[in-house]
Amino acid sequence: MGILSFSLVVVCIIKMVVAQPATDPNEVAALKKLVDYWNLNDKLNLTIDPCNKDATWAPENENPRIACECSSTVCHINHLKIYALDISGVIPRELFELKELMDLNLGQNVLSGPIPPEIRQLSKMQYLSFGINNLTGPVPHELGSLTKLVSLSISSNNFNGHLPTEIGELKSLEQLYIDSSGLSGPIPEELSNLKLLHTIWASDNSFSGKLPEFLGTLTNLKTLRLQGTNLEGPIPLTYGALTKLEDLRIGDLSEGESSLDFLGNYASLSILLLRNCHLVGELPKQLSSFSNLKILDLSFNKLTGQIPNSFQDFASLQYLFLGNNNLKGELPESIISPNLVALDVSFNSISGSLPLNFAKVGLKVNVVGTSINSDNLYDERASTLLQCLDNTKCSNIATSNSFSIKCGGMKQVSTSGIRFDDDSEELGAASYYAGSDNNWAVSSTGSFISNPNGPQSIAQTDTQISGTLDSELYKTARTSSSSLRYYGLGLKNGKYAIELHFAEIQMEDTRSWKGLGKRLFDIYIQGERVVQDFNIQNEAGASKKALVKKFEGNVTNKILDIHFFWAGRGTCCIPVQSTYGPMVSAIHVSKVGDEVSSSKSDKKRVGKVVGIAFGCAAGLLIISSIFYLWWMKNSAAHQRIYTGSPTKALTS
Ligand SMILES: *[C@@H]1O[C@H](CO)[C@@H](O)[C@H](O)[C@H]1NC(C)=O
Ligand SMILES: *[C@@H]1O[C@H](CO)[C@@H](O)[C@H](O)[C@H]1NC(C)=O
Ligand SMILES: *[C@@H]1O[C@H](CO)[C@@H](O)[C@H](O)[C@H]1NC(C)=O
Repeated sequence: MGILSFSLVVVCIIKMVVAQPATDPNEVAALKKLVDYWNLNDKLNLTIDPCNKDATWAPENENPRIACECSSTVCHINHLKIYALDISGVIPRELFELKELMDLNLGQNVLSGPIPPEIRQLSKMQYLSFGINNLTGPVPHELGSLTKLVSLSISSNNFNGHLPTEIGELKSLEQLYIDSSGLSGPIPEELSNLKLLHTIWASDNSFSGKLPEFLGTLTNLKTLRLQGTNLEGPIPLTYGALTKLEDLRIGDLSEGESSLDFLGNYASLSILLLRNCHLVGELPKQLSSFSNLKILDLSFNKLTGQIPNSFQDFASLQYLFLGNNNLKGELPESIISPNLVALDVSFNSISGSLPLNFAKVGLKVNVVGTSINSDNLYDERASTLLQCLDNTKCSNIATSNSFSIKCGGMKQVSTSGIRFDDDSEELGAASYYAGSDNNWAVSSTGSFISNPNGPQSIAQTDTQISGTLDSELYKTARTSSSSLRYYGLGLKNGKYAIELHFAEIQMEDTRSWKGLGKRLFDIYIQGERVVQDFNIQNEAGASKKALVKKFEGNVTNKILDIHFFWAGRGTCCIPVQSTYGPMVSAIHVSKVGDEVSSSKSDKKRVGKVVGIAFGCAAGLLIISSIFYLWWMKNSAAHQRIYTGSPTKALTS
């Protein structure tokens, strides 16, 4: 009896062991090496079997996570997630011993070096992410062996060379994320084999050639993002067949005009962004049949004709950007659709008045650079300044020879005695603000699509800024997801020294994945691009470090135009969503050779008696404002008729 019960116990133990077989020893050995190499021993303590179902790393939401598939005799690791844990070093060869992997997520780390060609051994892979790392080298053509891939992400890395043609062998692929990956050259035609693709993110790469016609054969596409590439238009008519589109963003085409004729029957479309694409022709009436459209951005094109009356049919529309086109005629009453949050019609030859219902709560409107009567939109001071954009109507404004702006912040005096004006109003997705000294104004447009409820135009930090005695000057900044345009108005004609103050206050320069972001934008002065792909952090040498860039500008018609423009370049979402676009901390402009306005001559006096000086200035300001208002009331030029459109930076 004793012996019998002993053998029963043994049988039971064997049965239990059989119920949970051990992991393939090759895989365990490889995994242990990986865990050592990536310093993950405290999170993945492999003194127990990695496939043990009770292990702390087994549940679906764990990170790092290991999960397995077990037969009656052996377990294989088929899921491995090491996400946003800042593992560094290269992709070790041991990884390719885990041959049963079907889901590998190494996203948001600081892995460097290439993707080794042995990646081909992971032929069961379905979900593969190397997104947001520091990987280099070519994208290996061996990726084409992973024919079961459903989702591939290599976004936000520093690869070089072309997207390999073998991508066309991934016939199961549904999602392809290659934005900001460093790729160049043509988009391979083999991509058109991937008929199941529903998501392509490919913005911010230096692709060459024409916008491919064959993308129009990928009729399962729901999301297509192609901003900030070097691709040429026109937008092919074949794209009209993409009737499942929900989110279409094409921008910053290098040449080649397109009309909007390609627009198909896009009943599911929610976001349509065709910004800076050389669009010509008129706005088609059929636009308003896209009944699910929430965001429509056709800004920075060459669209002509009138805004159709049909916009009232846009039941869902929240953001409408039509700025910087050649639209004409009257603004239709119906433009304010029921759910509109922001309306940008700036820099068009549109006239008329704003509809009465524009004043609904929360609606942001930008009509800068149009002939629309803005009396009921902006205060009198701002309206008057607006007219100055047409220099023939600028005579009402006292001439000045300098201005200084604390972009995105409250007024302050720098250690060198420069008084920077308040520019702290949150402008939302489309608005305009005039400086209190009546000699500058700012026009801001753009909405951060992934973060519509966050701040749209102001960034701030509590961190001290290095490289300056004026840390406070840089702790706030204006930002924009599209266009930020400052005007000096009523300036004496002549040559001006322009100081632009920058500090990167949103991106990090740590050794973490959070330090892998790139902000790139363009600077135009008087319509000329003076810097392309400007990167504050690179030029300053660090994040949270001040950088002053000096330029010259000639004023010939009382106006100085300083335009910060996002051309779709840079990363979108590091360290957080919506971290891109122009950013500027302060602007100081003074006439060259004009001693009165020169900051140096004011320096000592202002430094010592800043309180008195400020008191006097405030008094003078009040007196001159009263006089100014009285004078304006009596001035015939008070009639707000504004014709002609100001210089456009980006019409060609
Ligand atoms: C791993 O677990 C073993 C046994 O539970 C323990 O003795 C050891 O200290 C652990 N190692 C680490 C790095 O946590
Ligand atoms: C990324 O790699 C580059 C060299 O290729 C290096 O200079 C940089 O510091 C790395 N970034 C991080 C965050 O590790
Ligand atoms: C300003 O005008 C001067 C004289 O015509 C010219 O030499 C200079 O290049 C101009 N500067 C800019 C920035 O256009």
